[in-house]
Amino acid sequence: MTTIVVGGHFGDEGKGKIISYLALKDRPDIIARAGVGPNAGHTVYWEGREYGLRMIPCGFVNEASRLLVGAGVLVDPKRFQEEVKMTGTEGRIFVDSRCAVIEQRHKEEDAGDKFLHTKVGTTGSGCGPANAERAHRTIKLARDFPELREYLADVPLEVNSAIDSGKEVLVEASQGFGLSLFYGTYPYVTSKDTSAGMAAVDVGIGPTKVDDVLVIYKAYTTRVGEGPQNTLITEENISQYPLWQEVLGAAEKKGIKGSSVNDVLAKYLGEKGTVTQRQRRIGDFDLELAKYSAMVNGATQIGITCLDKIFPECNGVREYHKLSHRARDYVRGIEDGVGIKATLISTGPNPGDIVDLRV
Ligand code: GTP
Ligand code: IMP
Ligand code: MG
Repeated sequence: MTTIVVGGHFGDEGKGKIISYLALKDRPDIIARAGVGPNAGHTVYWEGREYGLRMIPCGFVNEASRLLVGAGVLVDPKRFQEEVKMTGTEGRIFVDSRCAVIEQRHKEEDAGDKFLHTKVGTTGSGCGPANAERAHRTIKLARDFPELREYLADVPLEVNSAIDSGKEVLVEASQGFGLSLFYGTYPYVTSKDTSAGMAAVDVGIGPTKVDDVLVIYKAYTTRVGEGPQNTLITEENISQYPLWQEVLGAAEKKGIKGSSVNDVLAKYLGEKGTVTQRQRRIGDFDLELAKYSAMVNGATQIGITCLDKIFPECNGVREYHKLSHRARDYVRGIEDGVGIKATLISTGPNPGDIVDLRV
């Protein structure tokens, strides 16, 4: 079985959490990282520690899995080596020799460029300038860097031979559909497509080899960086949303103050970026974007995270019938709107906080 996990909104949907669960539960033989590069920040809670991963597959929590970084992913060698140490994955983590490498000048350009830094609000991780240089065909690849030599592999060869011998392969993408260079809110997007087709290309597998595409949505829609967000909650429209009035009430009860309604909600929900520490903007669940992204991704399943943040009574629930009625109605509303069943419903940050409805 080959499964691709992608983000269905603007990134930060909680892919890291879902992947850590799948790694422990399904014990994939191979877990391959797709997506743009170290602009991603996936959060994994494991054995009492919080990991903010930008390069290493979140599935590292299963010690039996072989971890691969696909050729489409940009590699920051220093960050990569730090994360190998942090996760203790030496000996079972490899990068494709054709991965393009981010150097200091890419980061400087990303952070120093007025358009990228101020107008797009990039993460400053060097991904945009590195992908531009890759298109110019002047960038250096992983095979050119002595410090990466011991990690080099032919990722497509490994992944395809695993698939052909009936092994379990999990592909983890990064970012989200609304940030796609092709289908997102251009020019407020990242430097590559972010859909499942691209993730397959990133790790070198053909479309006929993919069995499942799991699209992840947060129970509400967040966005960090610049760019439009259709369902943003504001002073002017919150009265139309009973759910958000209730969440705001809970925040105020806790004494949370802020410069705007959205600021208070973001602080209450703990929505802060993993890479840049920037606050994420809070929006109601964007059903139109969810539907469109399920279509382009070819979703076979959907996952919903952070249900406990808006329905605190669901915190840590692992059985569907133990979710509150209103939470179940909410999930059903998303399923009916998108037209696909939710198979994974996340109720907390730890891998085990989840309702798994897969057969
Ligand atoms: P990108 O690759 O950057 O798009 O990130 P991501 O999709 O892996 O998400 P990220 O880890 O950046 O953000 C999700 C946040 O929500 C993290 O802080 C997670 O720990 C947290 N989280 C994920 N699922 C749940 C959940 O079901 N409940 C709660 N309370 N927190 C969750
Ligand atoms: P870049 O990918 O660093 O060039 O940033 C382009 C846009 O995508 C900015 O708005 C970033 O905030 C956003 N972005 C990039 N990666 C992520 C991610 O992993 N999560 C959320 N937003 C992201
Ligand atoms: Mg993130």
